[in-house]
Amino acid sequence: MRTHYCGELSAGLVGQSVTLAGWAHRRRDHGGIIFIDLRDREGLAQVVCDPDRVEAFKTAERVRGEFVLKITGKVRRRPEGAVNPELRSGEVEVLAHEVEILNTSLTPPFQLDDENISETVRLEHRVIDLRRPVMQRNLMVRYRAAMAARRYLDAHGFIDIETPVLYKSTPEGAREFLVPSRIHNGQFYALPQSPQLFKQMLMMAGFDRYYQIVKCFRDEDLRADRQPEFTQIDVETSFLGEQDIRDLMESLIRTAFSEAASIELPSPFPVMTFAEAMRLYGSDKPDLRIPLVLTELTDAMKGVPFKVFSAPANAPGGRVAGLLVPGGASLTRGEIDGYTEFVKIYGAKGLAYMKVNDASQLNETGLQSPIVKNLSEAALGATIERTGAKRGDLIFFGADRQKVVNDALGALRAKIGHEKGFASKEWKPLWVVDFPMFEYDEEAKTWAARHHPFTAPKDGHEEFLSTDPGRAIAKAYDMVLNGWELGGGSVRIHRQEVQAKVLDALKISPADQQKKFGFLLNALQYGAPPHGGIAFGLDRMVTLMCGADSIREVIAFPKTQSGQDLLTGAPSAVGEAQLRDVHIRLRTPTP
Ligand code: AMO
Ligand code: AMP
Repeated sequence: MRTHYCGELSAGLVGQSVTLAGWAHRRRDHGGIIFIDLRDREGLAQVVCDPDRVEAFKTAERVRGEFVLKITGKVRRRPEGAVNPELRSGEVEVLAHEVEILNTSLTPPFQLDDENISETVRLEHRVIDLRRPVMQRNLMVRYRAAMAARRYLDAHGFIDIETPVLYKSTPEGAREFLVPSRIHNGQFYALPQSPQLFKQMLMMAGFDRYYQIVKCFRDEDLRADRQPEFTQIDVETSFLGEQDIRDLMESLIRTAFSEAASIELPSPFPVMTFAEAMRLYGSDKPDLRIPLVLTELTDAMKGVPFKVFSAPANAPGGRVAGLLVPGGASLTRGEIDGYTEFVKIYGAKGLAYMKVNDASQLNETGLQSPIVKNLSEAALGATIERTGAKRGDLIFFGADRQKVVNDALGALRAKIGHEKGFASKEWKPLWVVDFPMFEYDEEAKTWAARHHPFTAPKDGHEEFLSTDPGRAIAKAYDMVLNGWELGGGSVRIHRQEVQAKVLDALKISPADQQKKFGFLLNALQYGAPPHGGIAFGLDRMVTLMCGADSIREVIAFPKTQSGQDLLTGAPSAVGEAQLRDVHIRLRTPTP
């Protein structure tokens, strides 16, 4: 039907006859001449219809927005002054000889170039929303990123093997989606949170290097960077250690960013331990574009009269930390109150602060804050010296359990960093390594796996599994870019007795171990090779490549924050007969 894509036209084609097919993006009537901006996947082309071509002109008069057209005409240079440098085809236009309406369209529910359409309307009319050039570009970048990853992995000997989507319910962290079985009354499949155990078993089966670009399903609370179904670039390899895996994967990501989006990430990525990330940034995915850091003050606050600080400073697992905001003395009362409310989301009970008038006077003249009189001169001295605070700066304080202080000040650091213009415009990747094997679940009063229970402990840490689980460090690593966790992985346990120790530490009884992971424990006994891997969130990678603010912008048909597909109306009720088939009776029948 066509000879060229609209966006492909260029000065090189001047004088040639072309046939284009696409959508009427805009139609403008200029007293006797009609301009149609014709749009297709590759871009826009300006089509000119003049009344001399009677048939073509008459048809053009009937064209409305989003009509589907086939247009044949001659490429010519645009007149001086009408050149549009923003468009790839901006130097030329097509003088139409034939205009054919292939299909009409109702008036679309919104203008495609309207920047202020609500997301609800966009998702309800996703077909039209996806026609917008920015969405066409986003999905093209996504395709290129996936292709770049495939080429890279293929060139490095990884093979794509499919794993089941109807899987067994095996708690791995997030809540699972269940699928009732028709043939087995009362039994359920689960959709995989990731192909973790299958890829490990493929290593045990001798495939050596596996990858898959694969859908994963997690029934979690949704956010800008989370969907209930999302895509991983999932990788596993045998006979490589932690450093080799990281090197290979760092290069994969650098290649994908370069090939798909012409973004050159720095090399090599800095490496930071989990402990250091928490100490300096209060986060295991620090946004290194922001130079602000937390300052450790726990030891300095042990003896102060101010109980809010001294109590957590002396409690095991407590922390007191400061966050220096350069120039922060100019923050208004309203702004500080706003931040105080903000940190409460993370469980903080308050947000003490101190403005610095004169850093050399460790008293109520030099330091402006109601808490100054309750802190010793030594504590004030340590605060000023360690933060490096100067006249005009402000220091926020967090004092509580480590987790609360880290979450609260870590989030505050990111918020102030972005809102107050501290963030640089660079690409800031890093590896976070040496994660603890376990974290303590205060509610359940048990240890839980921090990554997943198949992660190997660091050499020499195996003994802590039974003696002191909190001390055990894992061969686990996360890749972080600009404050987003792009991917995470680990070296796996390949010896059955170590795997059993970890499951013991998690207080999973031997009977439950057999029931839930028997297939894995069994396979581990038949010559499992040393192996390890990683999975990247493709949606998150592409979101960063596109400079979008939500992964919904790079997924063709995403779900809303409440897990709905507004286009098709999923989830939806099903009929009684269908429920009966799968042996289900609802607790509260829907009308
Ligand atoms: P993990 O759970 O860290 O590891 O997931 C890997 C990466 O997947 C992305 N991701 C998500 N993206 C969008 N929406 C979600 N709900 C979501 N959840 C996770 C993130 C994350 O870094 N099996 C292990 C990997 C391994 O050990 O090899 C795993 O799934 O970018
Ligand atoms: P108070 O003595 O409760 O009036 O608190 C004095 C200051 O300490 C106020 O600015 C509170 O916001 C702040 N504050 C209270 N609890 C904490 C905490 N756990 N961490 C940091 N600051 C706190």
